[in-house]
Amino acid sequence: MRRGMRRTAARMAGKKSVKMSMGVLRGRSHVPVTAEDYQFLAHRRLPHFLRDYIDGGAGGEDSMAANEDDFQLLCLRQRVMRDVSRVDTATELCGRSVSMPVALAPIGMAGMMARRGEVQGARAAANAGVPFTLSTVGICPVEEVNAAVPDPCWFQLYMLRDRGIVEALLQRAASAGCDTLLFTVDLAVTGMRHRDAQSGMLGGAPLAKAMQLLTRPRWLLDVGIRGKPHSFGHLSDLVADPNDLGAYKDFVDSQFDPSVTWTDIEWLRARWQGRLIIKGIMSDEDARAAAAAGADGVVVSNHGGRQLDGVSSTIRKLPEVAAAVGESLDVLLDGGIRCGTDVVKAVALGADGVLIGRPWVWAVAARGEQGLRDYLSVMQQEIAATMALMGVNRTEELNPELLEMDQGIC
Ligand code: FNR
Repeated sequence: MRRGMRRTAARMAGKKSVKMSMGVLRGRSHVPVTAEDYQFLAHRRLPHFLRDYIDGGAGGEDSMAANEDDFQLLCLRQRVMRDVSRVDTATELCGRSVSMPVALAPIGMAGMMARRGEVQGARAAANAGVPFTLSTVGICPVEEVNAAVPDPCWFQLYMLRDRGIVEALLQRAASAGCDTLLFTVDLAVTGMRHRDAQSGMLGGAPLAKAMQLLTRPRWLLDVGIRGKPHSFGHLSDLVADPNDLGAYKDFVDSQFDPSVTWTDIEWLRARWQGRLIIKGIMSDEDARAAAAAGADGVVVSNHGGRQLDGVSSTIRKLPEVAAAVGESLDVLLDGGIRCGTDVVKAVALGADGVLIGRPWVWAVAARGEQGLRDYLSVMQQEIAATMALMGVNRTEELNPELLEMDQGIC
């Protein structure tokens, strides 16, 4: 059964993880290789509410599932006898030389999944030769992350009601050396993430939450105790008790600004000298608006299915956005990228590169920096092998004619 069909069948049977039901790692080797392997191992390490925080999406999680499933609607064309002795996955992404067209997506609170998780993620990304994006709501501050790596991270920001805080964060990121800002625009309000309510992530039942912690002693010692401080690195001056994650959540929720429009992006553009990438674009109209507001790039993203449940998968929307602005802007895509063939499909369909979200956190939660290094190494090898078997030497040669499309994705 194809991955998408398996996933759909499993979801209908009660949202069990498909790959786990296939016995990933269990009864086989214990060497993690795929995103699903790291997910499986991360589940064994993390308290339930953190596991669900990473894995969950909004509403019925249809868009989250579609992000992954729709990659299965694209088939690769196999070509032979084409001298692929010079296959090279290296390219340029948003002005930076990269070993493959991949960057790590901003993930809030990654430092709760592994000890100083953002630093471990940035180090593994540097080792792999790809950019790391630090979330506004990262646990580790930008100075700590940039001190650990040779090239500065990309910085992600939301528009907050208090524009003075936004200006201060822009200044702080620039002073720390960041030259690329991913500005996330798909969070006018927070999506309805039911798993976070069910698991206790959003509060309530402190005893149940304490029990979840006690069943994960390894996490408790390694991350819960040795991984402190757990304050949101960029916001710690703004809440009364920097150790109270609930206070941060209340602060951040109160600061999300539903009144934001493209005029605010022009305001932002005037204050950020570096590269500006707008994250959360799902239509050609919005892509053109981003270009008009002065953006250098867009990320086709539905926030990993965590915001508007029912919106299309990102891979379905990529051709529309690439056709609208691909000539003038960098076009990235995220959502559902799990392996090298997914990367090749996205690039062939018009993306300059992709962001990887959940898998990097699973890898770092499961096996730390080394786990993420290994995962990214396999991904690069998979991209190279896929290109070779398609008869392609350079990522720039990938194009839609190398895909066979099913069910009208284009
Ligand atoms: C996210 N995402 C996200 N995006 C953002 O701009 N700022 C953030 O702080 C976060 N935080 C966050 C936390 C968690 C737990 C998840 C899963 C996602 C969205 C993220 O950057 C990216 O768009 C998606 O994760 C991509 O989908 P995949 O790769 O996870 O399927």
